[in-house]
Amino acid sequence: QIHISPDAEVLGDALAQRIVAAIQAKPEAVIGLATGSSPLVAYEAWGRRAAQLGLDQSRVRGFALDEYIGLSPEDPRSYHSVIRHDAVDVVGLDPRLVRVPNGGGAASAADEYDVAIREAGGIDVQILGLGRNGHIGFNEPGTAADSRTHVIDLTAETIADNARFFSSSAEVPTTAITQGLGTILEARELVVIATGSAKAAAVAAALEGPVTEDLPASLLQGHPNVHWFIDDAAATLLT
Ligand code: F6R
Repeated sequence: QIHISPDAEVLGDALAQRIVAAIQAKPEAVIGLATGSSPLVAYEAWGRRAAQLGLDQSRVRGFALDEYIGLSPEDPRSYHSVIRHDAVDVVGLDPRLVRVPNGGGAASAADEYDVAIREAGGIDVQILGLGRNGHIGFNEPGTAADSRTHVIDLTAETIADNARFFSSSAEVPTTAITQGLGTILEARELVVIATGSAKAAAVAAALEGPVTEDLPASLLQGHPNVHWFIDDAAATLLT
């Protein structure tokens, strides 16, 4: 299903409605959390709705998509910090129930993350943003469709896009640990938010182009329960 609106706030609220409904149906729901700018409106709306409803979120569990390799969890630019600040605190989740991949570089971290997701019963709703090159999580073009959580080299484009959170692009870590495409595609529901004209080409290719590992988001076409939330600027290249 594709939801298009001129207003990112409307999209964020519509996405949040799906999350809140999932938690109402299953108080111990497992939600996959994305960092980045796109989902911020959705986290704000989710927090607002949860507060209005007096929703009990004390048993909701969360798994972040990814983390840089080499930043300490306390570094404000690490996704441990970003998820805490942008999502967990805004939404009102219990931080002890939210897990972020270990970016310390241990070889076992990737397998442990997949095991933890499986032991939690799998992800009920996975929130996704979309890279300009069609990446989801940090799965850059060319990543295998059946990949599990793994360490990946970031592309120059992704490093440039994320340099806004650092004082220079030279400071952006060049590697990250990310849920794999296979891991992401196992979530029971996927909600993708893409806003702004910089995402228009990736949105069109993901929704209307061929299904190919060269554009990871196109693999979502094979998932039975995907909701796209797209603003007018990001929808301009859809036919
Ligand atoms: C975030 C992530 C990335 C972003 C994507 C879009 O955890 O894994 O895939 O969702 O790079 O980022 P924004 O929303 O900042 O444009």
